[in-house]
Amino acid sequence: MTVHPAAPSLDLLREQIAALLQNPATGHGLARTLRATAKEIEISRYHQASSRAWPSGRIDTAPERVQIGGGAHRIDNFFNIDAIPPADLLWDIREGIPLHDASVQVMFSEHFLEHIDYPRSVKHYAREAHRVLTDGGQLVTGVPDAAFLLKHYPANPKLAAEMVERWYSKRDCLGDINTFLDVINYAFRDQDDAPNYTPHLWAYDEKKLIQLFTEAGFRTVEPWAFDATTANPKRQWGSVYVVAKK
Ligand SMILES: C[S@@+](CC[C@H](N)C(=O)[O-])C[C@H]1O[C@@H](n2cnc3c(N)ncnc32)[C@H](O)[C@@H]1O
Repeated sequence: MTVHPAAPSLDLLREQIAALLQNPATGHGLARTLRATAKEIEISRYHQASSRAWPSGRIDTAPERVQIGGGAHRIDNFFNIDAIPPADLLWDIREGIPLHDASVQVMFSEHFLEHIDYPRSVKHYAREAHRVLTDGGQLVTGVPDAAFLLKHYPANPKLAAEMVERWYSKRDCLGDINTFLDVINYAFRDQDDAPNYTPHLWAYDEKKLIQLFTEAGFRTVEPWAFDATTANPKRQWGSVYVVAKK
């Protein structure tokens, strides 16, 4: 008979990390990694709770309109899936999309894709989105437009100032964005090691989105006309959106 060691406990690890973060002997570098691990543990605990409810990895309803990574921006008549509350379902999308094949008509996300790791999780997400959409179904994706930012570097510092005002004026990183290159660093990494934000892990432009979704099997990938009844109005400036059709 095989004897399995007791499963390591996430709760215990969480307590140990909290204790280490209180300990003055824990240096800055280790503390950064521990804070990132603590965030992953939080996501994992929510995900594991949902996985226990849906052990097949598929929920028993079949929503036709789904938003992924909407955070506080809920959309009427959409089923909202996010890693953390508030959402209709807490699920770590890096583990797949918990919906049935060919069941969704519209899937929407904005300012989500750049927060998951490329290529493993991003390409997995694109394939999963293709699997759950009906024939003719649409995947709408909006991300910060790296091309918009880079197009103006370094010649247009006025635009850099506008970017800082629009994107970072209410954040505690404001005093550390001192040059145009700092704006670019922030857009590519967002706030690494910040309590309320997860960093950006990859940058996108329209060409990259077209390549990504074409590779995943979508028939067409085209620019999406911004529609504030679905999208978050504050995302319009400086973002790029595409619609991929199955
Ligand atoms: C920058 S917020 C964008 C929120 C909203 N879409 C908006 O535009 O205001 C990124 C969202 O993606 C979610 N997210 C990040 N990683 C995720 C993952 N692995 N699975 C599910 N949601 C995730 C975060 O919890 C957060 O709500």
